[in-house]
Amino acid sequence: MNILIIGSGAREHAMAWAVLRSEKVSRIFVAPGNGGTAMMGGKVSNVPIKAAEIDALLDFASRESVDLTIVGPEQPLELGVVERFRASGRRIVGPTSDAARLETSKVFAKDFMRRQGIPTAEYRVFRGHAEAKAYLESCGSYPQVIKASGLCAGKGVVVAMTREEALDAIHEFFENRVFGDAADEVVIEGFLKGQEASVFALTDGRDYRLFLSAQDHKRIGEGDTGKNTGGMGAYAPAPLVTPEVMGLVEERVIRPTLAGMAAEGYPYTGFLYVGLMIDGGEPSVVEFNARLGDPETQVVLPLLKSDFVEALMASVEGGLAVVPFEMHAGAGATVVMASAGYPDAYESGREITIDASVAEVDGVTVFHAGTKQDGDRLVTAGGRVLTVTALGGTLKAALDRAYEGVGKIHFDGAYFRRDIGAKAL
Ligand code: AMP
Ligand code: GLY
Repeated sequence: MNILIIGSGAREHAMAWAVLRSEKVSRIFVAPGNGGTAMMGGKVSNVPIKAAEIDALLDFASRESVDLTIVGPEQPLELGVVERFRASGRRIVGPTSDAARLETSKVFAKDFMRRQGIPTAEYRVFRGHAEAKAYLESCGSYPQVIKASGLCAGKGVVVAMTREEALDAIHEFFENRVFGDAADEVVIEGFLKGQEASVFALTDGRDYRLFLSAQDHKRIGEGDTGKNTGGMGAYAPAPLVTPEVMGLVEERVIRPTLAGMAAEGYPYTGFLYVGLMIDGGEPSVVEFNARLGDPETQVVLPLLKSDFVEALMASVEGGLAVVPFEMHAGAGATVVMASAGYPDAYESGREITIDASVAEVDGVTVFHAGTKQDGDRLVTAGGRVLTVTALGGTLKAALDRAYEGVGKIHFDGAYFRRDIGAKAL
């Protein structure tokens, strides 16, 4: 089988790594990929087509007889890559653009959850500055959470601790238009207390299978301080998601979401990412994503023991309910190494050295994100540069190994959090 993976992050490197372990695979193309997928060699090659170039991706898939396409990021989903591929008779894993509105429109997602009785924070929708301002001025309790409805690369959410912060946020959204059209509609919702964790499912629209739960670390600074990032590290499974909590998530969130989307005419297929706030064992939905998370994928996929490609094929062709979908025992952790300055402006082009002995640390894999090959050097080419994943019998063992791996990788200004997983130990 020939597989096409769309995207360029460490998530897509981890997908390529997981796909490569399947015996069924002859070629793996990553569009556009990164320095890490370029270095995999053998069956794996990068294709210079960007994730948003749907026509070019489709041409490529038919020219190279691609049997299955896997979509990493949200942007091609919003652009309709799934319906385009399906209309040409090509197998693809992901939701249609209508179904992907669970991620691409927070207004759709919130209204959907209200219609289906799925637990989430109370909210109001605003389409103009004046009404939003009047509401925030009359609002008696803070914090309030202000969200641009459209895609903002993870930056469109402000947890406003005070009225002033909230008013500033809507001024930025409606007047300074920092997110352009993505903030034409704004959700203002109540603050949820508790601890966050994420649950990931693979679904064919009716049946679903669960990966292990995970916890991301979204802030740049240790102790969850400072600016929001794409995610600085993750571990799995999340002890917070006990079997009881997972049962509630299935009963109150996953099953009603799949049934509701089907009943409303947008059957949801592909990966479903459920971001949760858990308070006293009660889960509420913070957000849905229509894809796997980054960096969560870099721990969740290495912990999948069964054949990833077989499961993906079953999700497209039928048989998802019975395909093997087993997880490794133990735990996994991944630590992101970022460029100095990230998530603000950062420098690129710094040479990266990866000590060959990394490969000798048992259970460690390095997934690249913002790297590229420059002649025979590997250089930094993004904010999040690479992620170092390790598995272990316990979370402690996995974390020790991941940090041992991090210690063998060097580039100028490398920054990483030293407290990934610390909360769960
Ligand atoms: P989102 O992009 O919707 O996941 O929001 C980004 C982050 O903001 C989440 O991971 C939470 O840490 C925080 N957040 C979002 N909504 C809420 C809420 N209603 N209550 C508390 N924190 C929230
Ligand atoms: N790690 C969060 C995300 O992928 O959205």
